[in-house]
Amino acid sequence: MQKEVKNFEFHNPTKIVFGKDQIQSISNLIPKDKKILITYGGGSVQRFGTLDRVRKALADHTFGEFGGIEANPTFETCMRAVELIKNEQFDFILAVGGGSVIDGSKFIAAAAEFTGDPINIFAKGIGSGEAIKSALPLGTILTLPATGSEMNSGAVITFKEKKAKVGFGSPFVYPLFSILEPELTYTLPKRQLANGITDSFVHIIEQYLTYPVGGARVQDGFAESLLRTLIDIGPEVVKEDNHDYSIRADFMWTATLALNRLLSTGVPGDWSTHALGHEITALNHTDHARTLSAILPAVMMVRREQKFDKLVQYAENVWGITDGSTEVKVDTAILKTAAFLKSLDMPVTLKEIDVKSDDIDYLIEQLDIHGNTQISERGDQTLAVSRAIYEKAL
Ligand code: NZQ
Ligand code: ZN
Repeated sequence: MQKEVKNFEFHNPTKIVFGKDQIQSISNLIPKDKKILITYGGGSVQRFGTLDRVRKALADHTFGEFGGIEANPTFETCMRAVELIKNEQFDFILAVGGGSVIDGSKFIAAAAEFTGDPINIFAKGIGSGEAIKSALPLGTILTLPATGSEMNSGAVITFKEKKAKVGFGSPFVYPLFSILEPELTYTLPKRQLANGITDSFVHIIEQYLTYPVGGARVQDGFAESLLRTLIDIGPEVVKEDNHDYSIRADFMWTATLALNRLLSTGVPGDWSTHALGHEITALNHTDHARTLSAILPAVMMVRREQKFDKLVQYAENVWGITDGSTEVKVDTAILKTAAFLKSLDMPVTLKEIDVKSDDIDYLIEQLDIHGNTQISERGDQTLAVSRAIYEKAL
């Protein structure tokens, strides 16, 4: 167990272009001699006019398009884009969409330059986990604040046949730039707005709710401020007709900062809620954030003892709970967390996302196959502990 902040290097190369009417700036951000492949998802960017704005901004560039990257992007679909890139010599990728389109595009960018079989970009029971040595340059236009993918170097890909969802990371897949226009969130339905608040919330929790270490006041204070922001704006954000620019601007920037690695510099990280959640999405396609909200309260309850000091700090500094013993503060903070998620119409039990006690054996088997047998901030979350969490969450 570390006592103080570990040595770290921090370098985040992604340029953020934030605000109103920023899509047009891609005409200067992408060199004119690049052949651009615009990647997008199931059609929201066509329906709401974003793709037309992108085409207009690229009037003096050469570009092609690849649509159909699904929510929870699949290896199979992304490999079709890789083929297109190789056949038509595209040398820049512009991802327009949410985390799924951006994640898929990160994989496409890496696979297009990978010398062996791209399956080997992945480890954890899927491939051999070879290091990536280069990737095509990638820019993004974010339409859904949630994952932080627009300013980080990770991506999560789904393998349909293997029913697996596995991530990879490489400094080569940091986006060169990301356009953050808060007004692009105005077309999001309530479910996706709630997903975005929840995913960001849990990203911060994974990096913060561990155990205290010296020299990390900045990381802690920063995390607490982002959590309080999400608690404040959450109820307003999920009103889909409330097109309040300031609220959506807070939402978008918070979601990006929640997972651009600033919070995790030199401190322990948990990520067990994500590990347990990914197995559920691979099993029954539940939205990523909905798996997290269904598991998080159970993680707090089952891991209460290991996380106790940080839970007290969370109760005091995030929820403002000052009365009562530390035990009472922790109880109240856990109840408030679940109530907050519920108020966004997020599930807080597995029952609500169609996971039954009979499914737990399968989920545990998958955690085992994917090497998630000693997870969480101390590496002490064995399969038995994960089972206890799934059972508590039922
Ligand atoms: O596909 P289209 O038609 O574009 O519709 C999408 C999709 O159906 C829609 N949408 C996006 N922007 C919209 C919009 N609808 C209306 N207006 C807009 N402005 O929303 C639906 C969900 O989109 P998706 O991209 O799947 O959601 P999200 O951003 O939550 O991404 C989830 C994926 O990211 C991964 C998750 O595992 C999941 O696969 N994650 C990536 C991370 C990372 N790279 O760091 C970390 C996260 O923990 C997460 O694991
Ligand atoms: Zn997440």
